[in-house]
Amino acid sequence: MRTVRVRVGAGYDIHIGKGLLSRCGELSKNAVGVCKAAVVCDSNVSALYLRAVRESLLAAGFEVVTLSFPAGESSKNMKTLTQLLEFFAEKQLTRTDCVFALGGGVTGDLAGFAAGVYLRGIRFVQIPTTLLAAVDSSVGGKTAVDLPAGKNLAGAFWQPALVLCDPALLGTLPAAEFASGMAEVIKYAAIKDAAFYGKLNPVSDLEAVIARCVEIKRDVVSRDERDTGERQLLNFGHTFGHAVELLSNFALPHGHAVAIGMCMMARAAVKMGAADESVIAPLAEAVRAHALPDECPFGAEEVYNIMLSDKKRETGSISLIVPTAIGVCERRKMPVEEARKWIDAALEGGRK
Ligand code: NAD
Ligand code: GLY
Repeated sequence: MRTVRVRVGAGYDIHIGKGLLSRCGELSKNAVGVCKAAVVCDSNVSALYLRAVRESLLAAGFEVVTLSFPAGESSKNMKTLTQLLEFFAEKQLTRTDCVFALGGGVTGDLAGFAAGVYLRGIRFVQIPTTLLAAVDSSVGGKTAVDLPAGKNLAGAFWQPALVLCDPALLGTLPAAEFASGMAEVIKYAAIKDAAFYGKLNPVSDLEAVIARCVEIKRDVVSRDERDTGERQLLNFGHTFGHAVELLSNFALPHGHAVAIGMCMMARAAVKMGAADESVIAPLAEAVRAHALPDECPFGAEEVYNIMLSDKKRETGSISLIVPTAIGVCERRKMPVEEARKWIDAALEGGRK
């Protein structure tokens, strides 16, 4: 088992190791003590892993209550949040009890937010079951639900008390979900660690790869928990990617859209003179090695219009995360009209 310590808020450990799920009771007991455990998961994960978690927690002395909600992003809303809060109240969870988020990013964001607001905040443990959740959403304390006006518009920074990551659970992930998570893995090489590209095509040691991603995210979040500066580097590929995801009407999985967004940004950086050609090849090779797309199926005008309507955009300006060398990105804040030039540069020569 590898352990990465995060020194944000009260601080917490991220344990990563195959077979760790069966030890979740004992490891959680060390971190939060024996208490009432409210395990939250979605309908898919419930069928696969809830029993093992429940048994391990019971064996360690926890009292266990469980709640499952329908799988999918469409559950990440205020209605499910209210159901969770009412469930906690009905089960009489107190400030010394603990929520367990067993699942992907949807479960972590939803259950984490519920833990953050119930009784003004109780502890929660993240048990990520998707690659995306393992390398990204379970670490750093961003929790949220979607509103009809847009994704993640209501949320809180609420750090977990512990993260337990068992890579063996990723074996049941559909291939497209695994590939989607790989886009976020590749992102870490592009923003912070050129040498990390060498570990990705193919991935021979998944545990080590997850640990490296988590270390990078830990370092970034420790310096900028509230996302006012450096943390925005983690959005590399996401501004264009988000537009592509929306334009596809969510037919393109998130990671596929992010892969397109990262490749668009690298091409734009070269054309705009921010980087030389060398930034493109390692990124494009990693993306293709994991069967992720690198070309945008939409036109510049469509992408620009989506960026203009982004609810989380700062008034009149936008921050683009620009690769300036292999493994190095920087944040460039610019007027939205200037960002249009970057989209045109990314898509020069028509739709590609
Ligand atoms: P998800 O939680 O919906 O999981 C994807 C699918 O995989 C679901 O159908 C789920 O039931 C299924 N699944 C989960 N684990 C499985 C397993 N081991 N075997 C088989 N099936 C399994 O989606 P996701 O991609 O994990 O996360 C996306 C969400 O994460 C989005 O809502 C996004 O906004 C959020 N996110 C949050 C952060 C953050 O920092 N908080 C970062 C990135 C993304
Ligand atoms: N996933 C981006 C962040 O945690 O800031």
